[in-house]
Amino acid sequence: MILFKKAADLRNWLDAQRKKDDRIGFVPTMGALHDGHISLIDSSKKKDQVTISSIFVNPTQFNDPKDFKKYPVTLEKDIDMLENAGCDILFLPSVEEIYPHGFTPKMHYDLGVLETVLEGKYRPGHFQGVCMVVHRLLEIVNPDRLYLGQKDYQQCMVLTRLVELTGLKNKTEIIICPTLREADGLAMSSRNMRLNEEERKKAITIYQCLNMIKENTGKNTPAELISKAKSILEKAGFKVDYVEIADAHNLSPVNNWDKKQELVALIAATMNEVRLIDNMVIQVI
Ligand code: PAJ
Repeated sequence: MILFKKAADLRNWLDAQRKKDDRIGFVPTMGALHDGHISLIDSSKKKDQVTISSIFVNPTQFNDPKDFKKYPVTLEKDIDMLENAGCDILFLPSVEEIYPHGFTPKMHYDLGVLETVLEGKYRPGHFQGVCMVVHRLLEIVNPDRLYLGQKDYQQCMVLTRLVELTGLKNKTEIIICPTLREADGLAMSSRNMRLNEEERKKAITIYQCLNMIKENTGKNTPAELISKAKSILEKAGFKVDYVEIADAHNLSPVNNWDKKQELVALIAATMNEVRLIDNMVIQVI
């Protein structure tokens, strides 16, 4: 694996690969890698001649400075994992390399309702920060494919919008990969390592609630299912930001399900300062 710290060096290297007609797959991350991240690398390795990953803990997407400070950093382990997975390139930029003109946004990304619902509502400014960093990374890497995890459902929708807004849609295809879970169902997340043993056990309640919603959709109303899930989560010790049952294509809340609309159930809840999110698509059979 080759490690680049400077955008200019990486660009030069990638330009040479493109001349060979190689397809470039890109997996942006914030590090503290786990098998969920590696599954995105595996997906790229199957399709692309060159797989590049980046590790950059992006300050502009943390609406809570405490969360930024506590974000886990495990660089040596990350490098080992990427190398074992056969990742070709790691881009490890400094803050100055990504934000040479400081953190002041160059533009406002018009994300429509995505900006104000769910994560947008509870993490003001978060998606503008995600767009800022991914826009910059896409300008540097200019990949043929961008690999994202369904674990961050709304982020996938936001970044699909970003490539439309920036005219990169025809250049970069977005590939959304399934959520990797621990054996008990907890979605893998860099934040899980901040849970103690007891909290870790309780954390599976999120997955159990998503399953409960999936199994009972159509039998109970969305309002009943949301209220039941909230009380189960609160009993387990979570502070719930939201439990939502929404249209899978635009995230608008669904109150009366017509049994045709594809749904997604989404949960965000905090256990002792560790905020976890997860979701489950409910297919219409
Ligand atoms: P990060 O949380 O490090 O996630 C990097 C990528 O891994 C994202 O596309 C995320 O959805 C995916 N991912 C995380 N957990 C996963 C799991 N359990 N299964 C499958 N994929 C998973 O998301 C970010 O970083 C940042 O916002 C970023 C896009 C890098 C911009 O800073």
